[in-house]
Amino acid sequence: MEQLAIGLGNRAYNIYIGQGILSRSGDLIREIFSGKRAALLSDETVWAIYGQTIMASLEQMGITAIPILLPPGEASKSLSNLESVLEQMAAARLTRSDLLIALGGGVIGDLGGFAASVYMRGIDYVQIPTTLLSQVDSSVGGKTAVNLAHGKNLAGAFWQPRLVILDTDTLDSLSPREFAGGMAEVIKYGVLADPILFDQLARIGGRPGIEPALPGIIRQCCAIKAAFVERDELDRGERMLLNLGHTFGHAIERHGEYTRFLHGEAVALGMVFAARYSEALGFARPGIAREIRNLLADFDLPMDTAIPIEAIISHISLDKKATGDTLRLILIREIGDCFIHETTAAEFAQRMYAL
Ligand code: NAD
Ligand code: GLY
Repeated sequence: MEQLAIGLGNRAYNIYIGQGILSRSGDLIREIFSGKRAALLSDETVWAIYGQTIMASLEQMGITAIPILLPPGEASKSLSNLESVLEQMAAARLTRSDLLIALGGGVIGDLGGFAASVYMRGIDYVQIPTTLLSQVDSSVGGKTAVNLAHGKNLAGAFWQPRLVILDTDTLDSLSPREFAGGMAEVIKYGVLADPILFDQLARIGGRPGIEPALPGIIRQCCAIKAAFVERDELDRGERMLLNLGHTFGHAIERHGEYTRFLHGEAVALGMVFAARYSEALGFARPGIAREIRNLLADFDLPMDTAIPIEAIISHISLDKKATGDTLRLILIREIGDCFIHETTAAEFAQRMYAL
C-alpha cells in the first residue's frame, strides 16, 4: 500500500492507495476516528458490489455503519437528495463526533462531502472512491457540491476529507465506458503538468496495456492534484488550471442535458477544443491538438462532436466562471504547460467561429 500526504496544515490528510485495501478500511479509518457510528453513503450499484466488504471491515473495528443509499447516476447529485441524506443522518441520531463515509464515484463523493460539510455545521468524512475519475480527481481536494436546475455544482462547499482510501481493485468492476471517462482526467494531468506521464500513456497505447502501471499512474495523478490544492486550496488562482477542458466540457455536458456524455467524455472533447483554440491563437505549436486527440482515441475517448459551435459559445458565455464579460479559459502552450487566458465573450465567439 502506498501513502500520499496532502499538506494542508491542520486539515492535512493521507491518501492510501493499494490493491484490495477496501477490506482494511475499518483499520485505516480507525487512525482518524475514535467514535462508534458512521453514515455509510453509497449508490445502489456500488453498494451491491462492495457494501458487505466495507460493513464487515468497519464492524471488526467496532464501528456501526448506517447505510444510506441513492440511485446511481448524476441525477442523484441533487439538493433534494442532500436533504434526504441529512434527514436520514438526523433520524439515525448521528452526532458531531460521528463520521460520514462516501463509498462510490464522484456523485457520491461530492454529495457526501457536502452533506458532511453542513451536517451539524460540519463533521468529518472519509472518501472511498470507486471510479477511476473519482480516484484521480474528485476524492482529493475537498470540492463538494450538488447540482441545481441552473447548472452543475452550483451549490457546494470546500470541505476536506480526513482520509482517502483508494482501492485500485474496485476498478475491475467498472464498465469500459466509465473507465475511459476516468482516463480523460488522467490524460488531462499529462497535458496540464506532466509530459512524462503523457509520453508514458502514449507508449502504453490503450487500456489493454495499462493494468500493471495503473497504481503508479493513479498515484502520480493524485500527487499532481495535491500539489495544486496545496498551493491554492480555495481555487482562487492556480487550482483553476485543473479545469483544463472543463469550461468547454461543461458546455458540452449541458448541451447533452447531462445524459448524453459522461463527465470524462465531455472533458476529453473540451481538451480538444482547448488545444485547437490554443493553436489557432498561436499559443501552442501546430500539432498539439492532434497529439492530444490521438492519445484520447487510444483510450477509447471521443475526440469530435457534432454539437454546433453556436451552442457551445452560448453555453460558455453563461458559464459560472465568467465574471462580467470576462471569460477564463485554460489554454495550452505545450504538453505539461498550461495557463489561464482571459478574454471577452465577444472575442471568444469570434475565435470559435474561426476554428
Ligand atoms: P458516478 O459517481 O456517477 O459513477 C459512475 C457510475 O459508475 C455510476 O453508475 C456508479 O454506480 C458506477 N460505479 C462506481 N464505482 C463502480 C465500480 N467500482 N464498479 C462498478 N460500477 C461503479 O460518476 P463519476 O464519473 O465517478 O463522477 C462524476 C462526478 O464527479 C460528477 O458529478 C462531477 O461533477 C464530479 N467531479 C467532482 C470533482 C471534484 O473535484 N469534486 C472533480 C471531477 C468530477
Ligand atoms: N476538479 C477540479 C478541482 O478540484 O479543482
